[in-house]
Amino acid sequence: MGRRAGSAQQEGIFSDMVAATGSTEREGWSSRSAFILAAIGAAVGLGNVWRFPTLAGENGGGAFVLFYVACVFLLGLPLVISEIFLGRTGQDDAVGSIRKVAERSGASKNWSAFGVMGVVAAFLIVSFYSVVAGWVLYYVGVMGADFASAVLSGDPLRGALVGQSQEAIQGRMGDLFGNPGLLLAMHFAFMGVTLFIVARGIGSGIETAATILMPMFFVLLVGITIYGAFVGNMGDAVAFLFTPDWSKLDPPAMNTALGQALFSLSLGVAGLITYGSYIKGPAGLGPTSVTIAFADTGVALLAGLMIFPIVFAVGLDPAAGPTLVFQTLPFAFQTMPAGALIGLLFFLLILVAAVTSSISLLEVPTAWGIGEMGWSRLTSSLVFGGGAFLVGIACLLGYNVWSEVRPLGFWSLFAEKDILDTVDDFTGKIMLPLGAFFTAVFVGWRADRKLVQEMTGLSGFWLSTWRFLIAWLCPLAVGTILITGLFPQVLGS
Ligand code: PFF
Repeated sequence: MGRRAGSAQQEGIFSDMVAATGSTEREGWSSRSAFILAAIGAAVGLGNVWRFPTLAGENGGGAFVLFYVACVFLLGLPLVISEIFLGRTGQDDAVGSIRKVAERSGASKNWSAFGVMGVVAAFLIVSFYSVVAGWVLYYVGVMGADFASAVLSGDPLRGALVGQSQEAIQGRMGDLFGNPGLLLAMHFAFMGVTLFIVARGIGSGIETAATILMPMFFVLLVGITIYGAFVGNMGDAVAFLFTPDWSKLDPPAMNTALGQALFSLSLGVAGLITYGSYIKGPAGLGPTSVTIAFADTGVALLAGLMIFPIVFAVGLDPAAGPTLVFQTLPFAFQTMPAGALIGLLFFLLILVAAVTSSISLLEVPTAWGIGEMGWSRLTSSLVFGGGAFLVGIACLLGYNVWSEVRPLGFWSLFAEKDILDTVDDFTGKIMLPLGAFFTAVFVGWRADRKLVQEMTGLSGFWLSTWRFLIAWLCPLAVGTILITGLFPQVLGS
């Protein structure tokens, strides 16, 4: 497994044996629904349950949310179809897949350069993603210990962290950030799990993980949302999330919404090219992509409906920022019935979402190592998982030992950013929109039209609509966020 199909070109008995056992065949999903589940697992992650509620809260709710949903369907969805098309057609790692589509379309092989950028971006993202997921792991530990003590004290349905002051609860995050050893241990554990799953391969690793974890995720999500509807303030949450105050939707907020739509759908970093390349049979890419986009957006909205009723019930600030989930919610769980249990389940839910996304991120460079360098899957996942672990260490040291370090401090856009934020912003504001831009231009203008039609399975009205969106709207809109993201003065902010 894991060797390139091309390596079976040697002659003689060995290649016959190989052909007979099929051992050089590239890995693949066992079914279409396995692919859909894995792709939803990739899309649904920290972006949905941590970043989306944070950004919706910071950007005033309703108008931001509606604009975000429009971005998902007008720009994100056509790009999802395009990325899966590239992988499905190329049947190779991201770079190889783009190269093959370029060859079959009579276009320059140099187009595959944007695949290389995607591979680098995915590698960088997984490095800090694992650090943030490490915080979640820490909170699973904190809430787990608290729930255990609730059970031992004979009151398993008590609130979370009872008897602790708001300062003490919120101070935990600062304690964690000030402790490089603890941050490192969490990061190590999370990256270890990610690496383990990716090293096992598509079938017994990624597909199995998605099949077990995604149903678990949905049960937890729906369960906690129903709980929030009973004990929280659902009315205020719905009003906050869905009543638009358009005056709050300024250009920077639009920029943020579009960037978030790309991140949440895993676009621009070749994630769906890579996953799409493991599809073997025919795949109607329209319905498949619509399912992925709906599921991802549904989860983001449900996450909002899970978190904000609890935030409002306790009178906390929805605009708390990135600490909303880590500092605000544990305190909110204190006064809620069964808060200790729900708090634990809540962080478990985020952890599960993070795992199914981080494996998709690590798979991108791992597939590249297998496809382009001829490495075994184990070697490739160790090289990139290990490398991302090291980059992640720099990110976590940025909260304590290297807190003064500003890696791109010479650049006004990044002047204030610590190491993790620099990697996050550089990938999110530059690499990801660039990747999406080139995907749109390549698929919209250079890929062979017949090939596109045949491999996407689109026709008639849907084909022309998709063509218009991918060739015109996506490059224009994504190009605009790229420019305004890079030069905020264009927006006068
Ligand atoms: N979509 C993931 C999230 O929302 O957390 C993040 C992500 C995963 C981005 C995989 C890119 C990717 F290839």
